[in-house]
Amino acid sequence: MNEQSLEPLRRHPEGRALRAEVDLRRIVRNFARMQEAVSGRGIWGVVKANAYGHGAVPVGRALAEAGASGLAVSSLEEGLELRHGGVACPILVLGGLRPEAVPAASAEGLAIAVVGPEHLADYARLLPAHPLNLHLKLDTGMGRFGFLPSELGNCLAELRALSPWIEGAMGHFATADDPDQGFALRQRRLFESCLAQLRDAGIHPRQRHHGNSDACLRGLLGDDTHVRPGLALYGLTLVPEGRTLGLEPALELVAEVARVKTVPAGTTVGYGRTFVAPHPLQIATLACGYADGYRRDLGNRAVVGFRERTFPVVGRVSMDYLTVALPVEVPAAPGDPMVLFSGNPAAPHSLERLAATLGTIPYELTCGLHRRITRRFFT
Ligand SMILES: Cc1ncc(COP(=O)(O)O)c(C=O)c1O
Repeated sequence: MNEQSLEPLRRHPEGRALRAEVDLRRIVRNFARMQEAVSGRGIWGVVKANAYGHGAVPVGRALAEAGASGLAVSSLEEGLELRHGGVACPILVLGGLRPEAVPAASAEGLAIAVVGPEHLADYARLLPAHPLNLHLKLDTGMGRFGFLPSELGNCLAELRALSPWIEGAMGHFATADDPDQGFALRQRRLFESCLAQLRDAGIHPRQRHHGNSDACLRGLLGDDTHVRPGLALYGLTLVPEGRTLGLEPALELVAEVARVKTVPAGTTVGYGRTFVAPHPLQIATLACGYADGYRRDLGNRAVVGFRERTFPVVGRVSMDYLTVALPVEVPAAPGDPMVLFSGNPAAPHSLERLAATLGTIPYELTCGLHRRITRRFFT
């Protein structure tokens, strides 16, 4: 998908023309690269938060067809969205589940992470009638969900009673992207010792998974049977190993020029008049703003791609619009597509570069893409 290959944008009925172009072929290729990187371990493809903004159902279907062991989501609602969208593979709800939601999860064949000791008695009561697979979450150092190693000992009897349903044990790295692997290795050792405790109590989860994308890319997998990458499947990465592996960003954000006009030197643009035209230039207004997930603080700091070049976003980004400055000689007209997030990782408007400009991570930019943006999928 390059800027030249973009088809003319279909106008939204109300005249908005903004869409996320999601190349599912790239996601499938990223999946295959990750399969190689993890030496054939099973992959739970993480598709929570609307597949990191890419579109949960189409991405989930593509990953399931590509051979994912299952898909991981954060809530019951996200799991149901996939099921109702025709995704038949195993689905794991990472964020735990209130006991009253167990019958619904069981009816839809969802698996759940058990995030602490609080509901063990309820699960034991409910599961005989409403069976579902459980993945015990062990807090090896993330400090949010999961059994602390110190409290596991007190729960072993209750867990043994649930063992027919315990399919997996899992943890989550806090620092897998950190070049200093000290803490990650400590988490791994804690995970192994928790697994040994479970084994000694007669609890044998068939699946063990502690690794997110960066752990997969950095070889922090021990003898885990499965992994849970998210970001890497979308072709985004925080570590150099991801680029070496050839991950391809799957999403481009494209907006159509809504209006273009030539303004004289001295013209100010947008709220707060933060941009003053230094000489005559064209101002192209695009129907994309912070309500769509294009961050306000990218105004005067980002560029967009157009006609094989890049041009600056000038003035403040407003709720529904942003403005781009073009030299007067560059031909531009309403309807012309401009690329706001590029699928080329080396481009100055790639998600990784824009995230770095903002001092954030690419996750935040893709997850922030509003559902009102049309998603178009390439297969
Ligand atoms: C529990 C859990 N597992 C796996 C992932 C995937 O992480 P990443 O996108 O860094 O691969 C996440 C993401 O936040 C997560 O919360």
